[in-house]
Amino acid sequence: MAYPVTRLRRLRRTEALRSLVRETRLHPGALIAPIFVCPGEGARREISSMPGVFNLSIDQAIVEAREAAALGIGGLLLFGLPERKDEQASGAWDANGIVQQAIRAIKNEHALDSLVVVADVCLCEYTSHGHCGVVKKNSTRAEAYEIQNDASAALIAKTAVSLAQAGADIVAPSDMMDGRVAAIRAALDAAQLEPTPILSYASKFASAFYGPFREAADSAPQFGDRRSYQMDGANLREAMREIEQDLAEGADMILMKPALPYLDVIHAARARFDVPMGAYQVSGEYSMLQAAFARGWLDRDHAMLESLLSIRRAGADFIVTYFAREAAKLLG
Ligand code: PBG
Repeated sequence: MAYPVTRLRRLRRTEALRSLVRETRLHPGALIAPIFVCPGEGARREISSMPGVFNLSIDQAIVEAREAAALGIGGLLLFGLPERKDEQASGAWDANGIVQQAIRAIKNEHALDSLVVVADVCLCEYTSHGHCGVVKKNSTRAEAYEIQNDASAALIAKTAVSLAQAGADIVAPSDMMDGRVAAIRAALDAAQLEPTPILSYASKFASAFYGPFREAADSAPQFGDRRSYQMDGANLREAMREIEQDLAEGADMILMKPALPYLDVIHAARARFDVPMGAYQVSGEYSMLQAAFARGWLDRDHAMLESLLSIRRAGADFIVTYFAREAAKLLG
């Protein structure tokens, strides 16, 4: 039946009608807020390229966690800025590492029980060179280096166990080494941590949109780039293979990233894989919107919610976003 019998505008006439037929919804419980934990007491340092995002000492992270819980946010994703960095990323798997301490502090407080505590598992914040794995220099030429896959996966598995032992509800490897999900699953099981789920950043592209994060997490590579382990932005089929591999290795859930420039990849993954799937609206996506808000070029509330809605519509069940608290306030 076509116009004039069919008039699609009939169901757009009032907000009540629009709400009734709305296909996709946002709710605070499907949002995860990233938190960057740093050493110290009372520390709250704003990231210059990410207004509203801070490096927080544990006491301040707890304050932010309480606010997140009160707003009904689903969970937190923890990153750490260690006291010291070295070639083996020892701060990542130290039982007393910064994130391990933060997790214990969060788990100590019953008011925070509604938050799922997700620990990002990677080495880049903890290595002196800023790469996500162990580096082998092949000569003195700066570009002649290699990120060692299996040695890195072993340290990553060790990190995951340490974070789960500290009390993380979920471990989320973001390094993109081959075989790291299998290595983590085996290591968790060997440590009697069979109940700890793995959320793998299964589809992670080498993206310019991580730029502001590297300021927030102090994790920019000191030489080279991440293109030998993160995916080429041109490759959709390869992303499906990455997901297949991670699921075969035992990933319980997958995380897709970035989000907005890769909505087609999220959509393709949704059609193909029946597992819980999140998407990460990364730092650069946040910063570019913030920059436009600051200039009055975009309407803050509408543009923020529209960007999140598009990610849900593409197929993500949940969203990691630096807008989590602001969006939860609007949705609440
Ligand atoms: C660590 C990691 C990164 C992000 C999440 N985990 C940075 C990177 O791969 O360089 C990016 C998140 C963001 O940009 O918000 N490997």
